[in-house]
Amino acid sequence: MTTTATESAARSRIPAVPGAPLLELRDLVMHFNVKGEGMLIRANNKVRAVDGVSLTLGEGETIGLVGESGCGKSTTGRLITRLLQPTAGQILYRGHDIAKLSEPKLRPYRRELQLIFQDPYSSLNPRHTVGTIIGTALRVHDLVPKGEELPRVRELLDIVGLNPEHYNRYPHEFSGGQRQRIGIARALAVKPKVIVADEPVSALDVSIQAQVMNLLEDLRKEFGIAFIFIAHDLGVVRHFCDSVAVMYLGRIVEQGARDVVYGAPQHPYTQALLSAVPDLGVARGTPPKARIRLSGDVPSPINPPSGCRFRTRCWKAEDICAQVEPKLERKADGLLSACHFAAPPAGSLTAQVD
Ligand SMILES: Nc1ncnc2c1ncn2[C@@H]1O[C@H](COP(=O)(O)OP(=O)(O)OP(=O)(O)O)[C@@H](O)[C@H]1O
Ligand code: SF4
Ligand SMILES: [Mg+2]
Repeated sequence: MTTTATESAARSRIPAVPGAPLLELRDLVMHFNVKGEGMLIRANNKVRAVDGVSLTLGEGETIGLVGESGCGKSTTGRLITRLLQPTAGQILYRGHDIAKLSEPKLRPYRRELQLIFQDPYSSLNPRHTVGTIIGTALRVHDLVPKGEELPRVRELLDIVGLNPEHYNRYPHEFSGGQRQRIGIARALAVKPKVIVADEPVSALDVSIQAQVMNLLEDLRKEFGIAFIFIAHDLGVVRHFCDSVAVMYLGRIVEQGARDVVYGAPQHPYTQALLSAVPDLGVARGTPPKARIRLSGDVPSPINPPSGCRFRTRCWKAEDICAQVEPKLERKADGLLSACHFAAPPAGSLTAQVD
């Protein structure tokens, strides 16, 4: 039997503030203090990993969070699940701000907001059996009476496609794909409303990736869970997500419904990302597109460029881009784009920047 998002909402243990969305990030900031290097060893630097991210996730919705390595995707996921406390900003779950809550007050929210980690090898304690790993999640949240976890553990193993009788085995006795299923079962144990899946299949063999993605898809339908789905693979995001948020250097530069972002992206960075994916036509029905090659590396998040952070690699940059930071503004089809010269690609993408 499948669960609609409305039924899932009704079963939440946290009463919603009237009119509040399931999850809302408002101007979320995470700066890490780091020491300088070499001559600057005494300097205190700030890594601006997340620098003003706002995002809204509806009941049962799936948002894909994409962008190059180091742009702040995992940090955003760790903030949402409060493995990190933000430097500033709000994390509103059903209208309640959990950004600064102490650990005891966070407890009921931890049940509702779960994280699936990228690496199925290091995210499971090698000294514990699968039964203990999943059973601990049940015990911590008082979901079953002490000593009565086993039937529920078996049920969860069955749900994620593992043999229920393998509860006594250790993580090393499973393959990578099977371990990721154990991580998914652990997240499911507490009946979450939101799962942040941080590159859940990128460490797996290609042949196994589709199986785990199908499992996540089934769980989403069956339990009405909303997802923040972090991924490098834009093909997987297109398949799995309702909408897409594109991050660059700690900010969201473009966001919108999946078909709008993939069909007519307006931000040059999104256009460049999509042009690098072989089988994704940016402008549908057009001849094969040329790849946009971005010059240079991503600038340091310690000292991001003035104005538009993408300007040092953007082929459309003009003087204003160095002076005025573009705001995330609404364009056609509800697309939000942060670019002074936002425009859909004209036909196939032909710009070449090297
Ligand atoms: N604990 C930390 N201390 C200092 N800097 C950190 C810390 N965690 C993350 N960072 C930095 O914050 C930035 C964002 O990191 P994050 O892991 O969120 O990126 P990401 O988008 O998930 O990258 P990837 O795609 O490689 O996983 C990076 O520059 C990273 O080095
Ligand atoms: S604001 Fe300027 S530099 Fe930034 S993406 Fe737009 S054109 Fe490029
Ligand atoms: Mg990451």
